[in-house]
Amino acid sequence: MDAKEYLESRQKKIDQALSDSIPQDPSYVYGMLREFIFRGGKRIRPIIVLACAEAAGRTESDAMDYAVAIELFHNFTLIHDDVEDNSSLRRGKPTINSEHGIPTAVNAGDALYRVMWSILLSSKTLPEKKLSALRIMMDGFSSVVEGQGTELYWQRTGKFDISEEEYLEMASGKTGALIGLACRMGAFSADAPESTQLSLQQFGNKMGLAFQIKDDILNLTSNPSEYTKEIGEDIKESKRTLITIRLLSTLPEKEKQELLSILKKPEKTQEDVSRAISLAKEHGAINYANSVCERLLSEAKSHLSALPEDKCRLFSEVSDYIIRREK
Ligand code: IPE
Ligand code: IPE
Ligand code: MG
Ligand code: MG
Repeated sequence: MDAKEYLESRQKKIDQALSDSIPQDPSYVYGMLREFIFRGGKRIRPIIVLACAEAAGRTESDAMDYAVAIELFHNFTLIHDDVEDNSSLRRGKPTINSEHGIPTAVNAGDALYRVMWSILLSSKTLPEKKLSALRIMMDGFSSVVEGQGTELYWQRTGKFDISEEEYLEMASGKTGALIGLACRMGAFSADAPESTQLSLQQFGNKMGLAFQIKDDILNLTSNPSEYTKEIGEDIKESKRTLITIRLLSTLPEKEKQELLSILKKPEKTQEDVSRAISLAKEHGAINYANSVCERLLSEAKSHLSALPEDKCRLFSEVSDYIIRREK
């Protein structure tokens, strides 16, 4: 089975479990959650939970509650992230904030967060194991919220002198940590030795970081007919991505000032966005970000030696497929 077939074969089971997890009533609270979740979404995180459980020698069903909880947490962060980033499109459709307004979007995120806790609390795991699981998960969730908070702090205070290391730390929190947690919870559900759990978590953290950088590249380079978010939104929202940080540290002074003045404008025109994208392409920042992505991917794979040979190959292919995606 190749990586694509592997991912697709797990998706159906996960979607069924996700559907079962969302209450029906009141429909004006939970209906929009169901709609949001089933617009699409790659289900990368729950697939990883199941794959890691299986790689550590246990059936997937033991890991399903963790897989569902992590996907619900991910969807909760997306709903709130779209409020935070003032985004208008998600998974090819209007965001909840643009369709129903910010107050309803905040409550929708909260509702999803509470459904996640219900799933974890009602799982059939023994109480002691459940408590350990909740502790590990809370650590992962803390990293996500703190990473998001760092990015929001940069935006709020107009901070642009950010080093690559600072960016990588922020993105490891906002995105790497949840993918790392997905790996760890799969191995945890299978009672894998702690060293295996930690190796897989490190694999996921690094892969997740590469995933975020790829997401930022796609935001500027995607084909509009295939992209399901808004192209150039990161420029519109003055995001400090690896691409803009690299540009600010390598552009000649005149172009650097031009880019800074675009990023500092409260409202950008389509021309501003296109100019920033051209600078990124012409001055090698996209190529640079792609090379960092490849380096992180290979560092991620170095943590896979904890797995049996055949699983190692499959995980390596799955991570290539996820990171080298074009949409
Ligand atoms: C989007 O994650 C947010 C990032 C961490 C970049 P995904 O690209 O996994 O989102 P869906 O679930 O497939 O929509
Ligand atoms: C991704 O945020 C991380 C979380 C949602 C926690 P981004 O703002 O970078 O991702 P997109 O581009 O909106 O999916
Ligand atoms: Mg966003
Ligand atoms: Mg964001």
